[in-house]
Amino acid sequence: MGQAGVSGGSSGGWSDRFEEGLNPFVERFNASIGFDITLLQQDLDGSVAHARMLGRQGVITVAEAERIVAGLETIRCEAAAGSFNPGLADEDVHFAVERRLIELIGPLGKKLHTGRSRNDQVCTDLRLWLRDKIDRIDLLLVRYAVALLARAEENVETLIPGYTHLQRAQPLSLAHHLLSYVEMARRDRQRLRDVRRRVNISPLGAAALAGTPVAIDRRHTATALGFEDLCVNSLDAVSDRDFVVEFLAAASLVMVHLSRLSEEVILWASEEFAFVRLTDRCATGSSLMPQKKNPDVPELVRGKTGRVFGSLQAMLTLLKGLPLAYNKDLQEDKEGLFDAVRTTADCLQAMAVLFEEGLHFRPERLEQAVSSDFSNATDVADYLVAKGVPFREAYQLVGGLVKRCLSEGVLLRDLPLERWRHIHPGFDADVFAAIAPRQVVAARLSEGGTGFELVRAALARARSDFSS
Ligand code: ARG
Repeated sequence: MGQAGVSGGSSGGWSDRFEEGLNPFVERFNASIGFDITLLQQDLDGSVAHARMLGRQGVITVAEAERIVAGLETIRCEAAAGSFNPGLADEDVHFAVERRLIELIGPLGKKLHTGRSRNDQVCTDLRLWLRDKIDRIDLLLVRYAVALLARAEENVETLIPGYTHLQRAQPLSLAHHLLSYVEMARRDRQRLRDVRRRVNISPLGAAALAGTPVAIDRRHTATALGFEDLCVNSLDAVSDRDFVVEFLAAASLVMVHLSRLSEEVILWASEEFAFVRLTDRCATGSSLMPQKKNPDVPELVRGKTGRVFGSLQAMLTLLKGLPLAYNKDLQEDKEGLFDAVRTTADCLQAMAVLFEEGLHFRPERLEQAVSSDFSNATDVADYLVAKGVPFREAYQLVGGLVKRCLSEGVLLRDLPLERWRHIHPGFDADVFAAIAPRQVVAARLSEGGTGFELVRAALARARSDFSS
């Protein structure tokens, strides 16, 4: 029970209509203070703006407004010092602040709630909080992408097998592979920026659901709080949580991207692939098997992805049957959102650290991988195409050639020229240079392709995108 609260079982802060206190279990069941205390700073900010607006409008005097603001700032200091600890009887952060304000400044504190309701207050707080978190996640997206870019810059000419169906397909520049995740991060930033526009709209002043007869100035509070616009319909203002859904959808995609990269790193770190070596900074051992080094960081990221999807699903389900306007169901909007924000931010940071200091690519293993397979078979066909052979015909010829190589246990590069000539007279000695993995990659100069020149240009573009 907090110092600011009224003890359980009393009739709390309700009007004189109430005679009896809450059943103690119901009091606990009903309370959101255990988690909405997260919104304390935003609740104080919103109340400061509301009080000043009431003063400016002459609803209360300017002196009264300033005494209220001073009281609110005292609460902020108490919270910073750890001495503001509301309890269950406070029900939620909004009541907790109001009650403490009244304790601090006396009956004047009772004027703060003029012309507003907890219904517009709670979604104002939530929008302010989420706006801030979106900005933080944007910074983390930049840090993560910059870590990928640093590894990409070191590896423009490092080759890695490219896969489709998890079967070796064609070799790639490792930088090109990493840059594909940078592209995903770029879209994630765009999406969040777009969501932020719809988060940053003020519901304050919609009051309970219908507006208020009090002469408030909604634009003034909106501007003071940095909102870009006003929610224009009071019913929609207090019941809209689309912005939460939109954020969770955007965060879910961030997690999809992190989880896909995690899966690749986990494969790469396996003995079967051995494309990366994990450093001791981001890996753990086994309590039993002394030889093991486990990729816990990407595994946890992959594992945590479901929490964010879960919050999105929960939020959609929460909203689908809700009649207008505010319903207590909406109190359930917070915990999933808080968890999703923390999870997404933590996973971005984890992947940034992983790419900053958690792994080394193994050039010798990558080199071995790209030079010991048939991932240059398409290039043999393309060689014949350049000599005027129709692609499908070339494709058939090369298929037969690969089949023979496989049964003889040799690679294409091991075939003597006469064998090539036997298959098609168009083959010349330059075929060997044309199918060398480095040349295969260098030649893919169609826009967006993996040719080194293109990759260097893409890197430069990505660098400038992520430095703004
Ligand atoms: N704790 C509530 C919530 O999180 C605040 C709004 C309560 N409004 C109400 N009319 N009971 O949604």
